[in-house]
Amino acid sequence: MAPTAFITGITGQDGSYLAELLVERGYDVHGMVRRSSVERFDRIEHLRERLTLHQGDLLDQRSLVDALRASRPAEIYNLAAMSFVAVSWVQPTLTAEFSGVGVTRLLEAMREVCPEAAFYQASSSEMFGKVREVPQTELTPFYPRSPYGVAKAYGHFITVNYRESYELRATSGILFNHESPRRGLEFVTRKIAWHAAAIKLGLIDKLPLGNLEAERDWGYARDYVEAMWLMLQQDVPEDYVIATGVAHSVRDCVEVAFDQAGISIDDHVVADPTLVRPAEVDHLIGDATKARERLGWEPKTDFEALIRLMVDADLKRLSR
Ligand code: NAP
Ligand code: GDD
Repeated sequence: MAPTAFITGITGQDGSYLAELLVERGYDVHGMVRRSSVERFDRIEHLRERLTLHQGDLLDQRSLVDALRASRPAEIYNLAAMSFVAVSWVQPTLTAEFSGVGVTRLLEAMREVCPEAAFYQASSSEMFGKVREVPQTELTPFYPRSPYGVAKAYGHFITVNYRESYELRATSGILFNHESPRRGLEFVTRKIAWHAAAIKLGLIDKLPLGNLEAERDWGYARDYVEAMWLMLQQDVPEDYVIATGVAHSVRDCVEVAFDQAGISIDDHVVADPTLVRPAEVDHLIGDATKARERLGWEPKTDFEALIRLMVDADLKRLSR
């Protein structure tokens, strides 16, 4: 019989790639979706007939228990979160509820319905914040710099705590930034790719940006969902850093994107102080040695190829 997987956040960037991967591997894939006055399932539209969707919300315990009862999963991937760092200063308590306490709600639902399942928590390199060592590993202490990072640190530690308290097969994947043509338009790589394409096509003229010097370890989301799946195939649940081991600045991202679009930076990029964050994460770079050695995982797509494929995708989309 096909194994069953349950994904929260299935309508998001990672949820859609993970659903694709699991469907390809013969899983019976269930996902949790939130009710909205306008249905926005664009990222999973192509998979709809092969998915079973349940209404639910990380704020609502009843809905989590019922969704797990209806799907009876062997693997649970908790990808749902308020994932945009900048907005976490605007909605700090809601962010804590979604991205922090929501993890406890789902773990409690799992304990009640399917304690034997394997559980994946979508933890984040944002937890390293003002970094304590370079590069960051599974053992680097956290120093989060945003309400989002603080909420994710809670989500990470409650996952570790439930593993140790109740012997759950719970794993926390500490993933560094990962992007794709399905990335939300508010995140910097997609914003840059979209603007580069739109400027090239004469649709707009300016790209407003905040801190151009921030550095991130950017990988491709399609590669990273493979690591999530590999983590849940291990006999012993442990935590893993997933990263490329190479950092680039926002400025580098603009240079590659504009080069791909064939336009000049000087004429279009404008500084917008309102986009500078109250507290910044200046430099993130991960060491994924443990994942390479234990999971056999390696990133397949480098930064430059990633940004170029994102610009091409937006050029194609906007040309239609
Ligand atoms: P995303 O595109 O923003 O997707 C977030 C998903 O969470 C969406 O499906 C959203 O549903 C859902 N969601 C939000 N609040 C919810 C709630 N209260 N109840 C139920 N569902 C809710 O994020 P992503 O980039 O795919 O990231 C997936 C996960 O990995 C997130 O937890 C994120 O924090 C974490 N992460 C991401 C990265 C990265 O670089 N992408 C790195 C490290 C960790 P709607 O469609 O209804 O809004
Ligand atoms: N979004 C955005 N927009 N960021 C900008 C801009 C802009 O106009 N200008 C400069 N930046 C800088 C931000 O200040 C930040 O230092 C960097 O670009 C990356 O910002 P985001 O793309 O918004 O990503 P993030 O690093 O804050 O968060 C992402 O990665 C985390 C993992 O480290 C999100 O996906 C989080 O959910 C994820 O956990």
